[in-house]
Amino acid sequence: MTEVSATVADDVSNNATETTGAQAMPVAPRNTGTLAGFTIPRLGMGTMALAIEGRPESRDQAIETIHAALDAGVRYLDTAWSYYLPSKPGTGEPEDMGYGEYLVRDALNSWDGPKDDVLVATKTGWLRTLDNHGHYGWQADARPKTMIANAKESCQRLGVDALDLFYSHCNDPQVPYEDQMGALKELVDAGVAKAVGISRVGNEEIALAREILGDRLVAVQNQFSPVYRDPDGTMDTCERLGLAFVCWSPLGGFLDPFNEHCFDRFREVAAHHGCSHQRVTLAWELARYPRLFTIPSARNPQEIGDSFQAAALDLGTEEIDYLNGVA
Ligand SMILES: NC(=O)c1ccc[n+]([C@@H]2O[C@H](COP(=O)([O-])OP(=O)(O)OC[C@H]3O[C@@H](n4cnc5c(N)ncnc54)[C@H](OP(=O)(O)O)[C@@H]3O)[C@@H](O)[C@H]2O)c1
Repeated sequence: MTEVSATVADDVSNNATETTGAQAMPVAPRNTGTLAGFTIPRLGMGTMALAIEGRPESRDQAIETIHAALDAGVRYLDTAWSYYLPSKPGTGEPEDMGYGEYLVRDALNSWDGPKDDVLVATKTGWLRTLDNHGHYGWQADARPKTMIANAKESCQRLGVDALDLFYSHCNDPQVPYEDQMGALKELVDAGVAKAVGISRVGNEEIALAREILGDRLVAVQNQFSPVYRDPDGTMDTCERLGLAFVCWSPLGGFLDPFNEHCFDRFREVAAHHGCSHQRVTLAWELARYPRLFTIPSARNPQEIGDSFQAAALDLGTEEIDYLNGVA
């Protein structure tokens, strides 16, 4: 979180970021980019796995995991208004709401590195649900009044006057997308968010958002991994429009089962490099597009320490072709 001006100009820089955290690892210059005014490593961290089902029982472990990420050199933390768990059937009880955002705030406040260099992104438009059988779910609520209220709550929870980057989490089918984008526009114009993004969208929504938001829109957060390779070509659209593409569930995610064979080639290449296939996967993603950011989750310091080393991993052209499935 930082005091940067509200500029949303997103130029890709070839200069490696100064990562001043304790044991910051080297980042290849090509793996640095600019997003919402921050020039940072393009490998950030998603904090969903620290805040929803399967989260570490120990809150201290979650904080240590975020500290390990920051110490390694991560400068983008991704959270959401909806990263919490309802404790009773329904959409939530106040005691757990904001769990994920408070975690990010507390981790930053207790970290002794350069906090102002860290981009914190959050999202609006979804609630968590718990049914009578104990199953958690998600429920869209992107009415403009909800989005505006959520943004102000997120500022309070994160302890900031304005959000660095505020995403619409999803397109709520009950609300015209124009109205959802209108709420984001209002939030930037009122100074509540410095820049905005959209998530879980197709090309039509990107075009509409761009029309309404103009330069306020800096990022599209969509699913991308060896399991889900962006069949609609939204990454190409982002490239054409000069928008950042932020990969969600870049390692396949943990909420839904997937076909493990999608990682077979990644395991082979990883064996050659003597590293984890997760690290190869993240390096392959970073190589696709100079404005691509990837935000793997982790539940312990070792995982994020391993993942962040992807920012220094060089994959050859032949390896990338092989992983793309064209070899
Ligand atoms: N916009 C959206 O709608 C949306 C949707 C989903 C996610 N997201 C964002 O994307 C972020 C990442 O996605 P995700 O949480 O679904 O999962 P993910 O990054 O694909 O990771 C899945 C799991 O892989 C394991 N892992 C991570 N690094 C590893 C390593 N180096 N070696 C071995 N295992 C490793 C972890 O599970 P274990 O701890 O069990 O090993 C982790 O939870 C989220 O935190 C969130 O910020 C956004």
